[in-house]
Amino acid sequence: MRKNIVAGNWKMNKTLQEGMALAAELNEVLKGASLNCDVVIGTPFIHLASVAAAVDSAKIGVAAQNCADKESGAYTGEISASMVKSTGAAYVILGHSERRAYYGETAATLKTKVELALKNELTPIFCIGEVLEEREAGKHFEVVKQQIEDSLFELSAQDFGKIVLAYEPVWAIGTGKTASAAQAQEIHAFIRQTLAAKYGQEVADATSILYGGSCNAGNAKELFSNPDVDGGLIGGASLKVADFKAIIDAFN
Ligand code: 13P
Repeated sequence: MRKNIVAGNWKMNKTLQEGMALAAELNEVLKGASLNCDVVIGTPFIHLASVAAAVDSAKIGVAAQNCADKESGAYTGEISASMVKSTGAAYVILGHSERRAYYGETAATLKTKVELALKNELTPIFCIGEVLEEREAGKHFEVVKQQIEDSLFELSAQDFGKIVLAYEPVWAIGTGKTASAAQAQEIHAFIRQTLAAKYGQEVADATSILYGGSCNAGNAKELFSNPDVDGGLIGGASLKVADFKAIIDAFN
């Protein structure tokens, strides 16, 4: 009923030429493969148009890693949701903890970005997750609930149905410290309950909730076998085709 998704987040890695080579290699290994999940790659902005044109769009969706909180105008250096859409990208990662922590993105800014993404028919992959001190204080449930409420809960049920969520505990990102399968299931189930309380069980059951944070070829199968874990948002392991393919194959 809901989609399984394996999405790569390349972050600020790969020149255009390196990114094109990576995308071409991924495209090649997925040719003829029968997939049990949607595959998405989140590239830097400047790669989007070239990568989107080079890959088989039936197999690989392309995502931006951010978009502006304004529609257009005198905002030097910014990239709007409509510009992202015009590259052929179909998704945009929003609210990544690195954007929240290093670039001061607030819940209110993210709410606007989500609205602009939806207006431009992009699928937001909306990231939530607690930092280590919050987890250790047992506050992770309230933190993710607040993040969802503050940026997403003014959406209509119809619009909320277009959102993909990614739970990424900050302490697990790039650290090699993955959440255990039980920790992931516990909080994903809580997130789904939170959605059900607001939008009803049907919307909650149709929402894909991805796990991110040191997800790799070795742990993907165990994480994805949880009933409420619908795939992954993959950083480091999405930069090597063999690793990323092995994570995709965790759904086979
Ligand atoms: P890593 O897989 O490198 O831990 O990164 C996860 C992430 O932040 C994906 O958005």
